[in-house]
Amino acid sequence: MAPRPIIIDCDPGVDDAIALLLALASTNELTVLGVTTVAGNAPLSLTQKNARKICQLAGRLDVNVYAGCPRPLLQPLVTAEHVHGETGLQGADLPEPTLALQPQHGVSFLIDALTQAAEKITLATLGPLTNIAVALIQQPQLIENIEEIVVMGGAITHGNVTPSAEFNIYVDPHAAQVVMGSGAPITLISLDVTHQVLTTTERLAAIRALGSPVGQAAADMLAYYGTEDVDRYGLPGAPLHDPCVIAYLLQPTLYSHRQAYVEVDLASPLTLGRTVVDFWGGSGRPANAKVMLTIDANGLYQLLIDRIGKL
Ligand code: RIB
Ligand code: CA
Repeated sequence: MAPRPIIIDCDPGVDDAIALLLALASTNELTVLGVTTVAGNAPLSLTQKNARKICQLAGRLDVNVYAGCPRPLLQPLVTAEHVHGETGLQGADLPEPTLALQPQHGVSFLIDALTQAAEKITLATLGPLTNIAVALIQQPQLIENIEEIVVMGGAITHGNVTPSAEFNIYVDPHAAQVVMGSGAPITLISLDVTHQVLTTTERLAAIRALGSPVGQAAADMLAYYGTEDVDRYGLPGAPLHDPCVIAYLLQPTLYSHRQAYVEVDLASPLTLGRTVVDFWGGSGRPANAKVMLTIDANGLYQLLIDRIGKL
């Protein structure tokens, strides 16, 4: 099969960085048409730079990186330095990127790429959905050229910012609802899945044992990443969120899923940003998303180590 054309929208962020490495190492299955960046884990000035650092680390100076929206649609920007460090890639000592930032705005690139697409494009979203929402507000018909929007975000049960809301959705809940209500084919990979994929010491050791600069940088970043989650949840490792999106594109059989109607709560200060997931039709609304339920975590790590071991 020909490689699947994708655009990765991200907010690097350590787990975004690992997801980018996995995608950029999988050239037989994925053609990365571009990387768009958004404010989220860190301000846009850092997320766009970090994306370029990771493309450079992967030896992929052919990848075009774009800066998108510097803030959510309505909410004030909330960042996550406590998880990803002041640079957004804490743990890794990567050189300043020589890969230039593309001059075109990330939203403009998304619109142009989808408008001119010879075949439908898959959007892999790893951060707040601001860029995607602005593109779809500008040109709703873009959904006709979208194969699938695979979203890391939301929670069927418990949030990680508030008891209800997951970070990517919490940061820009209005953008998330624009996307959920757009009519585009949505695949949702929530915290209920990503918390099954933990950076245990054995898995980190296997990444470090790759012995390559990429393996070293990945292990160094992951060594510090998510220590807050480990302490808070008492887990044997941090949930590795964003690589779950790329792993789905590479090996969907790692997952189980169910169709559901998903809507984002915009009304209540207590539950703002909650993804309300209706599996059983109680809302009377038709399903608008494929909601992932389980993942083979060992399978994901085998895939991850195999692929980044090739960089
Ligand atoms: O809640 C986890 C998500 O928020 C991940 O994408 C992480 O990188 C942050 O963007
Ligand atoms: Ca992210």
